[in-house]
Amino acid sequence: MSSTSTNFSSLPAGMTNASSKPAINLLRGWPNGSLLPVSLIKEAATTALSDPSIAYDGLVYGADEGYPPAREAIAEWLTSFYNPSKPIEAERICLNGGASQSLGCMLNVYTEPSSTLNIWLVAPAYMLVFRIFEDAGFSDKMRAVPEDEDGIDIAYLRQEILKSEENAGKDTTTPRYKPHRDRAKVYRHVVYCVPTFSNPSSRTMSLHQRRDLVRLAREFDVLLVCDDVYDFLQWPTASPDTKLVETLKTSHLPRLVDIDRELDGGADRKGADGFGNVVSNGTFSKLAGPGLRSGWIEGTAKFSYGVSQAGIQRSGGAPSQLTSTYLTRLLQTGQLQHHIQTVLRPAYATRYSLMASAIKEHLLPLGFTMPQPDREVVGGYFIWLGLPETLNGEELTQRCQDEESLVIAPGSIFEVPGDESARFERSVRLCFAFEEEENLGEGVRRIGDVVEMMLESGEGPCGEYVVVERGHKDDTKLQGFM
Ligand SMILES: Cc1ncc(COP(=O)(O)O)c(C=O)c1O
Repeated sequence: MSSTSTNFSSLPAGMTNASSKPAINLLRGWPNGSLLPVSLIKEAATTALSDPSIAYDGLVYGADEGYPPAREAIAEWLTSFYNPSKPIEAERICLNGGASQSLGCMLNVYTEPSSTLNIWLVAPAYMLVFRIFEDAGFSDKMRAVPEDEDGIDIAYLRQEILKSEENAGKDTTTPRYKPHRDRAKVYRHVVYCVPTFSNPSSRTMSLHQRRDLVRLAREFDVLLVCDDVYDFLQWPTASPDTKLVETLKTSHLPRLVDIDRELDGGADRKGADGFGNVVSNGTFSKLAGPGLRSGWIEGTAKFSYGVSQAGIQRSGGAPSQLTSTYLTRLLQTGQLQHHIQTVLRPAYATRYSLMASAIKEHLLPLGFTMPQPDREVVGGYFIWLGLPETLNGEELTQRCQDEESLVIAPGSIFEVPGDESARFERSVRLCFAFEEEENLGEGVRRIGDVVEMMLESGEGPCGEYVVVERGHKDDTKLQGFM
């Protein structure tokens, strides 16, 4: 896959290039410009806008749940990809402006800061969700749940939920600031996770943990929010010839939302309220372009309807109405699926392989580690690295920037604000999706050079460099990082 240069600066806003080397950015979680399906979107837009009935639907107020043909097309596409035991109905889908906006909307509808006890974030966690939870009133209620090699430390989560319930006692006098609504409910807890190819840790949660987590969610009235945003981007680790796209076999684990739909009678089992305990948060950002600001949620029909009845959704309909008409065409014609299969997966497989080989050559011998090293199928955008024992991620990040014009993400920015229990000062995250393909190996080599110098000079942790303050209540420095 040839890569053309993008118009984006390789350094995030506010960062200067102190060394004379060409800048390399392994921090930014954007697709490389060459991977955006510009001509397909142009063709879909022209077709949609040339048909008066589609153009009209696209340009006027739309349905609360989103453009009906888009819901149908997404349901069909998800059914063929995930292959659940029964087809996914369109009524399970509610359109929105992408995973971030969907999360904000769901918190509006399904939580109440006075009675939702905690937001449990599998940590390290995608750092830009912290503010979404803060905006919803949960600044002091975010708690980290550590990952283990299988994805999540469920025993820890159970123990902490029990403590939180105990502290809350049986007090039912807490004020409610939102009116009672038949079409929605207030969940007692929220768990946020990225079960497959997580951002940032690149881990995938095992099947048995997925089942256990759904059971736990049912037991404690948890809403499990799964950002299933990287599922379509996967490839086998051992696929030297990524041009043979038909050999790019994948291994689909059922999503947590699929398990919640099927396990023990699903959300319609005796005694359940029908809302379900899992929502899958999907987005076109990683598949067609983040500027589309378009995505969907999938949950029970009752849950999805509740989302569609949020005030911001009802006033004018779901966001990205016009864009939905383009995406409908891309899905109905199979062009998006073809783009994912023949462009994105081979390109990301190549990019991953370039970065992983360079890590094996330059970093593993220095004592770096990678999570879940024996996986047969990998995916997503990121590689998470554990550092040699004496190194500190913030210091390494700063030195890479100053001495090598290289930007990487220190593990500390993925720590849950306000919870000191899960620290990641000895980790960094590298992104292989954004930087030009030919710079991926070079970027890793530069890290190796810096680390060799640090190890040789015997520099220990906690040096003079601090890139990002812990807790980063002001996360302006994170803008554009994703
Ligand atoms: C885990 C995760 N969730 C959500 C998003 C943002 O998605 P969207 O662009 O749909 O808001 C990202 C982007 O990097 C992500 O990694």
